[in-house]
Amino acid sequence: MVAIGAIASAIGIALALWINWFPANAAKQDKPIDTLYDVLMIVSIPIFVLVVTVVLYSVWAFRMRPGQELEDGPPIHGNTRLEVFWTAIPAILLVSLCSYAYGVLTDIEKTHKNELVVKVHAIQFAWTFSYPQAGGRTVTTPQLYLPVDRPVRFDIDTQDVIHDFWVPAFRVKIDTVPGIVTHLRVTPTRLGTYPVVCAELCGLGHSVMRSSAHVMPAAAFASWLRRQGAPASVAASGGGGNASASGGGSGRAQLVALGRQTFTGSGGCGACHTLADAGTTGTTGPDLGRALKGQSAAAIRTDIVDPNARIASGYQPNIMPSNFGQTLSAQQIDGLVAYLATVSK
Ligand code: CUA
Repeated sequence: MVAIGAIASAIGIALALWINWFPANAAKQDKPIDTLYDVLMIVSIPIFVLVVTVVLYSVWAFRMRPGQELEDGPPIHGNTRLEVFWTAIPAILLVSLCSYAYGVLTDIEKTHKNELVVKVHAIQFAWTFSYPQAGGRTVTTPQLYLPVDRPVRFDIDTQDVIHDFWVPAFRVKIDTVPGIVTHLRVTPTRLGTYPVVCAELCGLGHSVMRSSAHVMPAAAFASWLRRQGAPASVAASGGGGNASASGGGSGRAQLVALGRQTFTGSGGCGACHTLADAGTTGTTGPDLGRALKGQSAAAIRTDIVDPNARIASGYQPNIMPSNFGQTLSAQQIDGLVAYLATVSK
């Protein structure tokens, strides 16, 4: 039994360490967490093998043989030495593993000076990220942008129910809880784009409550942040400052272009909606080429800022985020309305 158990444990541990269980390694917090996982596997596998081997052996060795139907087993009233042994060993194991895990937790939650503060706001079913700026200004985006190698503190809240903010490539995650602000600390160490997901079943749109985290070089992040701070007209290739006021001519064309860009951009409407003109193929919401046919600009505007006001047949309310009135600039919404009004004719 000992030989079989030792071989089975060795095979199990080798397999557990050989399989790559984890997504990309993109934060300083990843290594200690992955190592903790490996250590837990190494300790758990022999215990699992021991229990299963003893169970299988007992089933086989102490099975009832013909003629023993009416016999009773020997009376057993306990074995103090064994009981002390099988209480003490698991207790020591549990206390050591918990202490180790607590050490890892303290390590990954360490605070840093020079932390970048990013506010994360959850709503059924979308994430919004805000970057408080000097002078009380705030830059708000539907996607997460982070500079590489700088400690980040996320301040996380929710508008409605419990969600869970998780970037698997950063390993750590935390619930968003109505009424309180929860915190998470991460230092991204690898450039790239990683999924942001909601890890708490929060309603019908839970599976589409996703975004992207872009880890970029510090200089690129700084210039991205500067561009976001600029007025929308400048961000949208300039010159459209009075587009919504003038209404016609080239201002109109610029507005439509901005709308199309907002529609097709990353995290834009096209992620969920099919629209032939924009070349998008999302299937979470209705095909807008059909749904918006013949609709007025006013109706289209309501559909964007108050999506639950009317729901296309066959679709559920509360799937489309109802905060686009806040996360998009007035110019972007004007642009979307102008663009969608041209394609719905
Ligand atoms: Cu939010 Cu699941």
